Amino acid sequence: MVPSKREQFGSSLTFIMAMAGSAIGLGNIWRFPYMVGEHGGGAFIIAYIVCSAFIALPCFLCEAVIGKRARSGVYGSFEKLAPGSKWKWAGGISILACFVIMSYYSVVGGWSLDFLVRSLSGGLAPGRPDEAVGIFSKMASSPLESITGFLLFLMATALIVLGGIKKGIEKFTKITIPILFVLMIALVVYSLSLPGSGGGVKYIIEPDFSKLDASGWACALGQAFFSMSLGVGAVLIYSSFMKKDERILRAGVWTSVSDTFFAIISALAIMPAVFASGLEPGVGPALVYETLPYIFASMGVETPVLSAVVTTAFFLAILMAALTSSISMLDVCVEHAVEQYKCKRWMAMLLFVVPGIALGVPCALSFGSLKGATLFGLTIFDICDFLCSNILMTLGALVFALFVGWRMKKADVQEELNGPLFKVFYFMIRWVVPPAILIIFISNLL
Ligand code: PFF
Repeated sequence: MVPSKREQFGSSLTFIMAMAGSAIGLGNIWRFPYMVGEHGGGAFIIAYIVCSAFIALPCFLCEAVIGKRARSGVYGSFEKLAPGSKWKWAGGISILACFVIMSYYSVVGGWSLDFLVRSLSGGLAPGRPDEAVGIFSKMASSPLESITGFLLFLMATALIVLGGIKKGIEKFTKITIPILFVLMIALVVYSLSLPGSGGGVKYIIEPDFSKLDASGWACALGQAFFSMSLGVGAVLIYSSFMKKDERILRAGVWTSVSDTFFAIISALAIMPAVFASGLEPGVGPALVYETLPYIFASMGVETPVLSAVVTTAFFLAILMAALTSSISMLDVCVEHAVEQYKCKRWMAMLLFVVPGIALGVPCALSFGSLKGATLFGLTIFDICDFLCSNILMTLGALVFALFVGWRMKKADVQEELNGPLFKVFYFMIRWVVPPAILIIFISNLL
């Protein structure tokens, strides 16, 4: 069943790092902290941990089982494991969703690149907080700046993916993931050392369950899926390159734990600084790109050099995290094209990167000249994000769980995931995970 030429990750550690790299991204540093701010601090964190452990982790294992067993692209895996059936169309939709996420995700990745360059050149106004306030809206609404950042980010993604699994993805994540951890821990230490930061820690630790309604739970589940890169084939594709004797459960637990840990330390790096500055934590998506530059610039009144170093470290961390995720999205698309159309890797890449530019540019312009182009009040960027992270990822994860729970032979699943917890896993993905996903999904739509 295993084609002899298929690449493999060099070791368990590098495989787990690549998986963690896909999981840890803008979802952790940009999205998670503002969701915590919007949905009751610690209460949201508890909901998130419950969703991650009991729903997202089993879904992760399902995707990994399919990938490891079939050793193919997303579409090809369904074709291999359920020949002649309609399941492969679910694989096709996953690839499409991955492509759309890559396009708009690269816009946000481009912002971090822009902010990194600005912080390196002193352009984030250390010591001049009032000037820092308008930087984000000016940058995001400038077609030249936002499109340039987007294109550079997408190009960097494409170059890494072009190197393949071992020389591209493995090499890049092996270097960046440890640096990312060190940078974030240093930022947490710095943030906690600020006078008045205790309020931020209290906010994260003390749950306010009155703010956690059905939509809060739906957001927690959606965020868990987004953060673990589920439902769009990213986990499946990396698993298709894992060694035959790799233990799926161990990889899943490590990815889930490091992803959750990273989300919490991101909140711990941001919230204490927000509270120390007496600002509002629930400002939504602008938290990282508007509130933080203001905070860092205010600190710069007394210590401009330290402020510039902290800002640079922060946006470098976001950029690296975003890249380790975007490469997994593009890889899903590229592996599909290489396998199905039998084309060269660079050709497969162009096949997705060129349309990705065509979709990403209007997404980038959604914050400027195309701000008014809306449907139900949503801009093009919002529509892509809503469609993928609220609908396609959730339904995708549901399809993968149904496939493993009800379509694959139990003995085949067990062969890939044997261990003391197999019975629990199998029960969960048949009887608990699908209804739980449906209930949370539907209650959010009502
Ligand atoms: N998990 C990534 C994040 O938290 O930023 C986002 C992501 C990566 C989504 C890969 C989908 C994907 F296929």
